[in-house]
Amino acid sequence: MRKNVIAGNWKMNKDLNESVVLISEIINSTKGLGSNVGIIICPPFTSLETANALLKNSDVALGAQNMHYESGGAYTGEITANMLRAVGCKYVIVGHSERRTLFGETNEIINKKLKSAFNSGLYPIFCIGETLEEREGEITEQVVEKQIREGLAGIVENDFAKIIIAYEPVWAIGTGKTASPEQAQEVHKFIRKLISELYSAVLADSVTIQYGGSVKPDNANELLSQPDIDGALVGGACLQADSFIEIIKAAK
Ligand code: 13P
Repeated sequence: MRKNVIAGNWKMNKDLNESVVLISEIINSTKGLGSNVGIIICPPFTSLETANALLKNSDVALGAQNMHYESGGAYTGEITANMLRAVGCKYVIVGHSERRTLFGETNEIINKKLKSAFNSGLYPIFCIGETLEEREGEITEQVVEKQIREGLAGIVENDFAKIIIAYEPVWAIGTGKTASPEQAQEVHKFIRKLISELYSAVLADSVTIQYGGSVKPDNANELLSQPDIDGALVGGACLQADSFIEIIKAAK
């Protein structure tokens, strides 16, 4: 039985003081929930160290939103996987569509990041998803398959077992337009079948596949009740404790 995992991607929001307030609210409201559902928050880099201290002995795990694949050197403004580990991160989001479109990340770069994350002992949340144009062109499955095949190239079973996949249709991110539960389920089922072909039926059955894209308290239940949807990667609704907790409760 797969456990639902709810992750909050804070994106470029919340300074250190605001982070402390939100994290304290989340910790208080999630006491005792963690045995039924995985809970992860991914604040900005500047809040990670403090977040880690606050989250000790809570039901909430810590993740980062991005990293570089190199292990160090002249990469002004970048962060290594080891640096994230050193401030207490267990997870890292890799290949978010905003990184792909705004910062030019290719499947090849994402593949290097995934490998670097594994080398440092981080668990990646690997994001994939099609644009509106691609969906309307009826090539969603081809796009997702290419992102998976190229993103996971050379990644062995042992490492793959640590991945969370997040299917985030780009047209549903921050737009208030959600994929219908049926639309999302169809792609999740396709992803699981592909993982079974690329790895094994056992891994396909155990991999967590989150849905992301305008997940809110009022649509979480329906989405999360689909058989192949194992949680959510939440943007806007994770910036307030109330709505984030509602989604976690829907995942229980
Ligand atoms: P929204 O929930 O704001 O649509 O963002 C989704 C997302 O991009 C999470 O990574």
